[in-house]
Amino acid sequence: MKMMKNKADVLLGLQWGDEGKGKIVDVLTPDYNVVARFQGGPNAGHTLEFDNKKYILHTIPSGIFHEGSVNLIGNGVVIDPMIFNEELRSIQMPFDVMKKRLLISRKAHLIIPSHKLLDAALEHAKGESKIGSTLKGIGPAYTDKIARDGLRIGNLLQSDFREQYEILKESHLHKARALGFDIQTVKLDYLDFEEYEKKWFEGAEKLKEFPAVDSEIFVNKALNDGLKLLAEGAQGSLLDIDFGSYPFVTSSNTIAAGACTGLGLAPSTIGVVFGIFKAYCTRVGSGPFPTELFDEKGQLLRKEGNEFGSTTGRPRRCGWLDLPALRYSVMINGVTTLIMTKADVLNGFDEFKACIAYGYKGGEIDYIPFEFDSEEIKPVYKTFKGWETNLGKFRDYDELPAELLDYISYIEDYTGVNVSIVSTGPDRSQTLIK
Ligand code: GDP
Ligand code: IMO
Ligand code: MG
Repeated sequence: MKMMKNKADVLLGLQWGDEGKGKIVDVLTPDYNVVARFQGGPNAGHTLEFDNKKYILHTIPSGIFHEGSVNLIGNGVVIDPMIFNEELRSIQMPFDVMKKRLLISRKAHLIIPSHKLLDAALEHAKGESKIGSTLKGIGPAYTDKIARDGLRIGNLLQSDFREQYEILKESHLHKARALGFDIQTVKLDYLDFEEYEKKWFEGAEKLKEFPAVDSEIFVNKALNDGLKLLAEGAQGSLLDIDFGSYPFVTSSNTIAAGACTGLGLAPSTIGVVFGIFKAYCTRVGSGPFPTELFDEKGQLLRKEGNEFGSTTGRPRRCGWLDLPALRYSVMINGVTTLIMTKADVLNGFDEFKACIAYGYKGGEIDYIPFEFDSEEIKPVYKTFKGWETNLGKFRDYDELPAELLDYISYIEDYTGVNVSIVSTGPDRSQTLIK
C-alpha cells in the first residue's frame, strides 16, 4: 500500500478530563494545518485564554482562533446544533471567517432535544448511583448511534428531515414517559422543551451553512497532500467507555483508538501521541477516585486551580496525582510524549504527594484492579518537596525549580515516557516547551 506522506498526531487527556487540552491544542495549532475533534460532544468544555480573553469551546476544535487553520468536527463527535449555535456566538468571530475555518462531517451524529430529556430521565432513575452526567444528551445520542437509530448531519440536509426527527423524538418521549418523565416538567439547560426545540432548529439552519464533508476522505487526502493534522480528544482516558472507571464513564472511546474510528484514520497513520495530565488529579461527577482529598489540601487545590467545571460550573473533586492510573493511560494510548499542566497550582504547597501504588486486599498492587471502586483500595503515597516560588514567572523549561524537575523526572521514570511541555498558567504564553 502507498504510504501517507504525513502521519496524524493525537492529543488526549490521560485522567478524568479537564487536563487543559484546549489550551495546549491552541498552543500547538501553529504547527498544524488541520485540527480535528474525533469524539465526545458538548459535554466537553475546552478553555483557551489569550490577549486577556477567555473562550470555552464545546464542539468546535481548539484550533479555531488561528488564521489558516482548518478545524474539522469528525464523524465520531455528537453535535447539538443549539449549543453549537451559542458557541458560534460566544467566540465572536466574523461568520465568513468561521465558515472558512470549520468543516463538519456528514457522518457526525446529532443530539436532538429529546436525547437531553432522556439523559435527565435516565440519571434520575439511577438515583444514588447516578453517573453525574453533564446532561447534554451524550449517552442517549451514542446509544442511538450504536442501536442504528441515530440521525446524522447528512440527514439534516435531506428534505424529509423533520419526519425523521419526529419519529426519533416520539420514541424518546415514549421511553421518557415510561421512566415517569414528561416534556412539560423538565427544563433543558433552563429552557422549556418547546423553547429548546425552537432554538435547536435555528441552530440547525446555522449549522447547514458550514461545509459538510466526508471527514475520512478529507483527513486522508490532507495527510497525503503533506498537510499536518492534530486530532483533539475530549474527556480523558479514565472516562473511556471500555477502559475507564465503568460505569462512571462517558459514552465514547476517548483513547487514541477513538481518533481512528472518529475520523477515519488507519492505525498505521498515527504519529505522535501527546498525553496530557495535570500535576494532580480532578474529577467531576460520580465514580472512583482513590487519591481524592476531602481536607483543606483538596480545598486548596480547588481554589488555586480554579477547579470548577467549564461546562456545568460544578466544583471538581480534587486529589493527588495517581501514577498507577497515569501509567495505565499511557499504555492504552501508546503515549509518545507527555504534557504536564497546572504545575503552578502546587506553588502553595511546602510538600505534596503522588500515589505510586495501591494497598489492596492485604497486599500492594501498581495497576488498576477490575473493582476500581473498591473501598479496599488505599493509595500508597510518595511525598515530594514543594518549590516555594511562583512558576508563572518562568519562560524557560530548564530554569524551572529543581524540585519540580525532580517531580517530573520521577513521573518520567514511572511511566517510561518523557515530558516535553509544562504548563504554568491558563494563558497561551504560560507554556514551557522542552
Ligand atoms: P480541557 O477540558 O482539558 O480543555 O480543560 P478545561 O478547560 O476544562 O480545564 C482546564 C482549566 O485549567 C481551564 O480553566 C484552563 O484555563 C486552566 N488551565 C490550563 N492550563 C493551566 C495551567 O497550567 N495552570 C493553571 N493555573 N490553569 C490552567
Ligand atoms: P473535557 O473534554 C470532565 C464526565 C461527567 C460525568 C461523566 C459522564 O472538558 O475534558 P456525560 O455527560 O459524558 O454523560 O458524563 O463524564 N465528563 C467530563 N468530565 N471533562 C469532560 O470533558 C467531561 N465530559 C464528561 O462529569 O462524570
Ligand atoms: Mg474541560
